[in-house]
Amino acid sequence: LSGLKTKVLGQKIHVYGEVESTQTIAHALIASGAPEGTIVLAEAQTAGRGRMGRTWHSPAGKGIWMSLVLKPRIPVYFMPQLTLLSAVALCRSIQKVCQVDIGIKWPNDLLIKGKKVSGILLESSGEDERLKYVVAGIGISVNLKREDYPEELRNIATSLAIESGTDIPRESLVQAFLLEFEDLYALYMEKGFAPIRLLWEALSVTLKRPIRTNTPSGVIEGIADSLDDSGALTVITQAGEKIKIYSGDIELK
Ligand code: BTN
Repeated sequence: LSGLKTKVLGQKIHVYGEVESTQTIAHALIASGAPEGTIVLAEAQTAGRGRMGRTWHSPAGKGIWMSLVLKPRIPVYFMPQLTLLSAVALCRSIQKVCQVDIGIKWPNDLLIKGKKVSGILLESSGEDERLKYVVAGIGISVNLKREDYPEELRNIATSLAIESGTDIPRESLVQAFLLEFEDLYALYMEKGFAPIRLLWEALSVTLKRPIRTNTPSGVIEGIADSLDDSGALTVITQAGEKIKIYSGDIELK
């Protein structure tokens, strides 16, 4: 990554060929003292992890499969804010590098024409109510072609190359993302979540749309109204009730 302009992120980069998951490697590196900003990149993952126990399709050479080590000394319950910050950084960097109409589906899926092009998985460890570290896993489907997807993903997933009609250099995108992330992370540490929340809202394809979600206490349907200070999604049901969703997945209707 010659020409990387960040100060902390990516000053230590570990690049691999094929790994099970860059997340696992990042956790191991932290255990042996890796500093904040350490990055793990792999050409391919054989067991890429997604949110909610799902797998992440990570074929060789076609995407950015990356884990980022962060050590923010913030309360554990601020984690969702970091998730939303990551989505904003990713969305803005993709917009800078290629011509696609991309938006964020709560909390942090990036969609182009309703199909998922990128996902974020944050794994953390805390101590005395403060975060000890976070491993931010970023998956971007950059240059996959339609035939690179298994049948069951073709209607729900897409890539930047498919949507923009041209291959995208992965290094430029990694650099743009790290720069964007570093700026937003500094802004967040200085000013808190408020400015990040505004940026997220402007990029969202979720707000003011009808959504449905499954929760342990049943299905919730309504209009996604706003984000609150903690990053939770407020939904207004048909009965006019306001319900907050803190985690999980939503379906846009
Ligand atoms: C999701 O949308 O479910 C999150 C997907 C996160 C995938 C990335 S790829 C790099 C990193 N390593 C993993 O095993 N997962 C994340």
